[in-house]
Amino acid sequence: MMKLALFAGDGIGTEVSSEAVSVLKFVLDENGAAYEIEEGLVGGASYDEYKNPITEKALKLAKESDAVIFGAVGGPKWESLPIALRPEKALLTLRYELGLYANLRPAKIYDELIDASPLKKEIVSGTDMMIVRELTGGIYFGQPRGVFDMEDGQKKGVNTLVYTTNEIKRIAKIAFEIARKRRKRVLSVDKANVLESTELWRQVVAAVSKDYPDVELSNMYVDNCSMQLIRQPKSFDVIVTTNMFGDILSDESSMVAGSIGMLPSASLNGKKGMYEPIHGSAPDIAGQNKANPLAAILSVAMMLRYSFDMDNLAAAIEKAVERVIKKGYRTLDIYSNSAGTKLIGTKEMGKAVISELKDVEARA
Ligand code: IPM
Ligand code: MG
Repeated sequence: MMKLALFAGDGIGTEVSSEAVSVLKFVLDENGAAYEIEEGLVGGASYDEYKNPITEKALKLAKESDAVIFGAVGGPKWESLPIALRPEKALLTLRYELGLYANLRPAKIYDELIDASPLKKEIVSGTDMMIVRELTGGIYFGQPRGVFDMEDGQKKGVNTLVYTTNEIKRIAKIAFEIARKRRKRVLSVDKANVLESTELWRQVVAAVSKDYPDVELSNMYVDNCSMQLIRQPKSFDVIVTTNMFGDILSDESSMVAGSIGMLPSASLNGKKGMYEPIHGSAPDIAGQNKANPLAAILSVAMMLRYSFDMDNLAAAIEKAVERVIKKGYRTLDIYSNSAGTKLIGTKEMGKAVISELKDVEARA
């Protein structure tokens, strides 16, 4: 029995995860898989109800599940709350409490969506990379942190960038394992010319690479990497990096891939994982049936692959998404008014994916 928790969250999070769950149920039912999906409140939705972005009950549900499907959290309504009560805190708590140290963010361009990227066609065409972001360490969680009073009456804001050998080792291993199944290249991104913690990062990644002689390792400083991502995105295979650098570089890579509405993610601790689109709650278009559910749908495909070893079902969903794109169906974020394309809404996009899945089955 697959035990799944569903945290749809705020804004378009609810709309896109509802389509993702429909697609998931369809493939699981067709294949006679036994599953159970329990919903929980997180983010602003939970704050409104309990004055807390994530309750013990929600956390317990997540801990007792095999995998978590996550929509998106946040919105202007909660922006002035203290950091500890903001919707984003739910995400950080789940990552930390579930030990989800490995964040996988694939960024791949679909040929048909090349026009959706703000970059030139010849630059982005062929881009296919995987960002492996460390997710439970670094400056996001390091101590000390806070805003402190100084003797002279000023205040001092403090965050700490800290990494231990073991934290670096385990994320490096994940990156090398993934590279083995791809083009066998790992790029480790750091700021080792300035920051000691990432000097250690570079050393430990190099040591781990000795166990992977078949995978080529290179290093880059993060400032240079952010430039190369725009200059030659197709040169990247697997990028492994720290929590904050990964946060920034993955947003950048989403533009290379066309739209942030297309990119899924997995956050893993062994087989246990949380799966979410990398986009946020997009309050400006929430509730209007405009959001692109494909990132959320591709996230459940990642769930089937990484938490349940159902590679064939994952591939079927990915194939269906490709075909829907090929057929010209577009949500607003990827619509370019070119010949043969059709602007549709969130729900229609979800249905289009399911009907492709039915089609493939009918032909098999
Ligand atoms: C992300 C987001 C989060 C992060 C925020 C919402 C806390 O930007 O998943 O990339 O910074 O990790
Ligand atoms: Mg981010």
